[in-house]
Amino acid sequence: MTATVALIGANGHGASHRRVIAQLQERGLVRLVGLCDIAPVEDPPPDVPVCRDHGELLAQCSPDLVVVCTPPHTHLPIASDALRQGSDVLLEKPPLLDAAEHHAMLRVLAETGRACQVGFQALASPALSELVDAVNAGRLGSLATVTAIGAWKRDDSYYSRGAWVGRTIVDGVRVLDGALANPFAHAVMQVLAIVDRPLTGVEVERTARAKCRSTTRQLCACTSTVACGRWWASRSAPSGSFRARLR
Ligand SMILES: NC(=O)c1ccc[n+]([C@@H]2O[C@H](COP(=O)([O-])OP(=O)(O)OC[C@H]3O[C@@H](n4cnc5c(N)ncnc54)[C@H](O)[C@@H]3O)[C@@H](O)[C@H]2O)c1
Repeated sequence: MTATVALIGANGHGASHRRVIAQLQERGLVRLVGLCDIAPVEDPPPDVPVCRDHGELLAQCSPDLVVVCTPPHTHLPIASDALRQGSDVLLEKPPLLDAAEHHAMLRVLAETGRACQVGFQALASPALSELVDAVNAGRLGSLATVTAIGAWKRDDSYYSRGAWVGRTIVDGVRVLDGALANPFAHAVMQVLAIVDRPLTGVEVERTARAKCRSTTRQLCACTSTVACGRWWASRSAPSGSFRARLR
């Protein structure tokens, strides 16, 4: 059977979804039945309806699967509407903003019986599978700590692509976008996949980074963690350190 698919959030990273959907369509596995974006859709394929409102799209084409690729703070209402109209959902990461939203989503999933998968494609990495197999088979000994360290450079074009990018609140709406919450959400998920059990007793962040510039243009940067593994602890100062770089 050919599954019908609609994409909400058709520009930006949605363009990658459109490419994959087109490949799957060529193989006869899916059929694209609608695109939705509040902005004009770039290069929409001919014969595919385009809507500005996701409710209108869902009512119009009742897809088997909806890909939600809008900014994270819009995920809960859009994904809930799609599930409630009877679609399964592929929800981009980070799926939701906080635990309250996760619980709300779990309630919608229980109520509708539909499926929701999150776009953590790094979980499909063959390297991760190898590592998980090695850990589970005990080939690496007993596991004490799993640490992910990420370092990417994001330039101005990354931050200027949307008002929500790199911000905590926009126009009074929480968006909570940040290095750990978004680009390195893949690393967070990989770490969780390796330990494969929920973390308990954590209510606030145990690792945080702050970066700002003074009015006299000096950069102030602070990275801190209270969840440091033994290996890492043995290589860094035990209770904090300061470094200064001169122009
Ligand atoms: N899996 C990955 O590796 C990966 C990579 C990049 C982005 N993402 C995720 O994909 C999502 C989108 O990111 P992006 O970089 O494309 O953002 P973006 O801001 O560049 O694009 C989002 C698109 O959604 C549209 N949109 C916003 N609100 C909408 C609404 N209510 N209804 C319909 N359309 C709406 C915008 O007009 C825009 O075209 C985010 O959750 C992001 O974290 C995942």
